[in-house]
This record gives sequence, structure tokens and C-alpha cells, in this order.
Amino acid sequence: MLPTAELHIHIEGTLEPEMLVELAQRNGIALPTSDLDELRAKYDFSDLQSFLDLYYANLPVLRTDQDFYDLTSAYLARADRAGVRRAEIFFDPQVHLNNDVPIGAVFEGITGALRDSPVSTDLILCFLRDLGPEAAADTLRLALPYRERFIGVGLDSAEVGHPPAPFAEVYQRAAAEGLHRVAHAGEEGGPDYVRDALDVLGVERIDHGIRAMEDAELVARLRDEQIPLTVCPLSNVALRTVDKLSDHVLPAMLDAGLLACVNSDDPAYFGGYVDDNFAALRSELGLTDEQLKTLARNSFDACFATDEQKKAWK
Ligand code: ADE
Ligand code: ZN
Repeated sequence: MLPTAELHIHIEGTLEPEMLVELAQRNGIALPTSDLDELRAKYDFSDLQSFLDLYYANLPVLRTDQDFYDLTSAYLARADRAGVRRAEIFFDPQVHLNNDVPIGAVFEGITGALRDSPVSTDLILCFLRDLGPEAAADTLRLALPYRERFIGVGLDSAEVGHPPAPFAEVYQRAAAEGLHRVAHAGEEGGPDYVRDALDVLGVERIDHGIRAMEDAELVARLRDEQIPLTVCPLSNVALRTVDKLSDHVLPAMLDAGLLACVNSDDPAYFGGYVDDNFAALRSELGLTDEQLKTLARNSFDACFATDEQKKAWK
């Protein structure tokens, strides 16, 4: 098992069909079906939006501290078995607020599970880009009483048509609070989204970034500045941003000297956790042990832990 850091994992994307059914029963919420095969049959996507539609439709089953605790504990137990030593976990508080769940319940449940896990962890609060910059600013304001419980902010949800620039002010506010900044860019959006995330939002890492490979000048910059890219191979295949894993740009990213690492994104939906991603890279893309080790080393270099922690893991 290759020890790694997982830096691109949405906790809501670890909601397995079994837990979906269990939480729906616990909270008296009706699902369209409780048949696991029928539920799993819906996990077949044509693009990012078709996935997001199901992801958001499933989330009303999360209601209490305990629900968030159970979800997070299940992910961390699985991640531990996958060799994850460090997890920087995304969460989407706006979804839960819109489902009338208080932000305090979200923080309590998730951070309770983080405390009880042997995996080194921190939380990154994501803004939903399709809800716009004002909603993002309101969310940051609501979260600031819990400032010590998260280390950074991110930007996720529907990318195309929701570029980074309008979020400049809320990212500035986050920076003033000493928060780390990351953003999804170049998943479905083009190289401009990546450039603006760097230049306008001042992000320290790019989540996905695969479409940056279409722009040679940007690739040179990502290499020169060693900007980390949290790549999610099985996610890209599941959402059809690439046709098949053997077409993925990850080997080209490594050849270009980019600081890319491997992540699972939404493992309950995309057919695998981080160890499954590594295994597929070996079997379907033919990555060598040396390349896989480089990816794991990159993940520790890219994480927001202290230098001392990083040294112990590498
Ligand atoms: N939210 C959860 N997973 C996501 C992804 N892969 N891209 C954008 N938003 C997301
Ligand atoms: Zn993601």
C-alpha cells in the first residue's frame, strides 16, 4: 500500500448507497427507491452537471451531528485502509444550510469524526460557484465563528459559466483570515479558469486542472511555480471529461514536471477510493512504480501540514 495524502475529497461524495438508505430510514426521509441496485444504476453520468444533480438530490438525508459524524467516520476508516496518512477534506455547507441544517451541526459532526480518527486531517470549506459570490460571502460570515475548525476555502460545483473572477472579494476576505485558498478549475472549464484562479483568487492549489494541458504557456508556469494539481482520474472518466483512463493527461503532466497528485473526488459515485485510483493508473494507464511514488510524494509536498509532519510521511 502506497502511503499518500488525499487533498481532493468531498465528504458528501463519500455517501455510499447503503448509508444513503440507512440515513433516510433514520430521518424518516422518502427516497425514490431503497433498492441498492436501482440506486447504483443511477450512478451513471454524462457530465459534471448530471452527477451534481444526483449528488445534491441525495444530500437531504444528512440532518444531524450524528449523520455527519457517521459519514465522515466511514470515509476515514476506508481512507486509512487505502493508505491515506493525511486528508484535507472538502465540505459544502451551503447545501446543508439550504436543507435547513444549521452550520453548527455540520461542523460538530464532521470535526467530531476527524478527532476520533488516526488519519491526520483538516477541513476546507467550499463555496458553490453556481450560487454566486454574495452567497459565498454570506457563507464565510456564517462559518467564521467556527474559524478554528477549518484551514481553507475552495470553489466547487458547476464550473462552465461560473468563472473564478467574481469570487475575488470573498477569497480576499478568506486570505485576511489566514485561510488557505484552493479552487476547482480546468475540470470542464478551459485554461482561462485555471489562470484566473491563480491570478484573481490567489489560490495555492488547483483542483483538477487537467484542461491546463491545452495551454503550453500555462503548463510552463505551473511547472516553474510548482503549483499543485489535485487530479482525480476515475472522476474524470466517470464524468466523461476523458473517454477512457488510457487517454488521461496525467502521464503528460508528470512528463512536464508538474506537481500532480492522485485523489478520489467523490469515491461513492465514481467507482473507487484513492487506492482504487492508484490501482487503475497502474493497470489501465501503465504507470510505473516510480511514477506512482512520485505522485504520492507530490501529495505530501502539496498538502497544508507542517514541514515536520510531511517529513515523517515521505
Ligand atoms: N462537487 C463535488 N464534486 C465535484 C466535482 N468533481 N467538481 C465540481 N464540484 C464538485
Ligand atoms: Zn471535486
